[in-house]
Amino acid sequence: MNSNGDPRYGRVTKAPSRRAFLQGGVAAAAGAVAAGGPDPLTTEVHDWASTTGDGVDATPYGLPIEFESDVIWRNVPWLMADPISSINFSLIHALEGTITPQGSAFERHHSGAIEVHKDDYRSMVNGLVDTQLIFTYDDLERLPRENHHYFCECAANIGVEWAGAQLNGVQFIHGMIHNMEYTGVPLRILLQEAGLETTVDLQDKWIFVEGADASSNGRSIPMNKALDDVLVAFKTNGEALRKEYGYPLRLVVSGCEGNLWVKWLRRIEVLNRTVESRKESSKYADVLAVTPNKGGSEQGAAMDKQNNAGDTEVAAVAESTSNEKAKPAEPVVASLDSELVLKGEKVFRKYEACHQIGDGATDKSGPQLNGILGRTIGFVKDFIYSKSSNIASEEGRVWNETEMTAFLAKPKAYMKGIKMGFAGLKKQSNLKPLIAHLKSAGN
Ligand code: HEM
Repeated sequence: MNSNGDPRYGRVTKAPSRRAFLQGGVAAAAGAVAAGGPDPLTTEVHDWASTTGDGVDATPYGLPIEFESDVIWRNVPWLMADPISSINFSLIHALEGTITPQGSAFERHHSGAIEVHKDDYRSMVNGLVDTQLIFTYDDLERLPRENHHYFCECAANIGVEWAGAQLNGVQFIHGMIHNMEYTGVPLRILLQEAGLETTVDLQDKWIFVEGADASSNGRSIPMNKALDDVLVAFKTNGEALRKEYGYPLRLVVSGCEGNLWVKWLRRIEVLNRTVESRKESSKYADVLAVTPNKGGSEQGAAMDKQNNAGDTEVAAVAESTSNEKAKPAEPVVASLDSELVLKGEKVFRKYEACHQIGDGATDKSGPQLNGILGRTIGFVKDFIYSKSSNIASEEGRVWNETEMTAFLAKPKAYMKGIKMGFAGLKKQSNLKPLIAHLKSAGN
């Protein structure tokens, strides 16, 4: 509405045009208001009120408006060796309310988000049951369903900070969580369909659940939990699961760490022991599963062998999710031993065409490395770094001995997208001497 002359809006002598408004920007508008002038955002007739908007057929599925394009996942390239075994953090800094939209919720894959058509989907209930069963997606949809809001948290949430502050932003530190509404069939119904009650004494029984992706993420769950509130879910926030969340079907295990919420659920096996799969070893999980029968480890080992096919998980966070990483990292070089430094200098000489260190060092194809240990990543002012180095720099990450060791062993795995043409030190035994040299010469 144009307010010129409208007594409700006060007298406007000359309203700025829309073009002038756009050119001047919000600051000018704010300035005009501050100076007692009219606010064109209030007084002008804008395009959005002068023309018609999109018809209902503009998109076949609703998407966030383009003005919210900054509300997106941000990969942290150095966190894991490869994005197919990595994490997207919930955008908790940008969300309100209690429900996390699927498009911006925490996700974790061990071998990528796979695509399984619901017509091709099968889930098996086997082990200590009367009748081993295979369910199709249609079978599952016909069973009684429930809706619940459940909160999921990765065991590694906040883990990036265990060894000290690393990332700048609440989504990276606390974002391995989501809270969604899940619709699905209670797991106890599937177990009952398979005749669980008539078969065994349920004391000390476990189920082993396994995903259909290449990593075969598998976890043991105590029977009392399985019969309580575990859900085999096919909808999230009212719609089909997205592939990141295990389309067409995932397990929802409220109150338990994220990797028990197995995606693309293909197997539910009833056992009288835990399986002790790789994903429940001390290097991965912090659940203290009681093992009623020691014989379980043999079967666990066999299953583990099968399970590890295709798992690409390798690097930093996979390890940093273990409690061991919570301890501060041991320094690689305790004190500077002159023999070590000399050996390191010899190793470094081969690369002097790319890097210089010491008095008068200048940038070559790589930046000068004076004071590199303790220096912020991507620090040298006039050197043109790669985007990954610049991001690390903005995050305030600093080269310490542990980081440098990981970097020099495999630069490209440590920092995706880095333009350093160096595949890493071939001889692990050269790492300590080289770092000793960087410390001594640089200082
Ligand atoms: C043992 C040998 C090497 C060591 C110790 C080393 C060390 C480093 C370090 C610590 C950085 C990060 C610097 C910073 O954040 O300011 C870096 C970056 C870099 N290095 Fe090396 N480097 C080595 C070999 C090489 C070689 C052989 C080349 C050239 C072929 C090279 C080229 C570069 C480049 C271009 C960068 C910038 C990376 C980027 O931002 O993408 N480096 N190097």
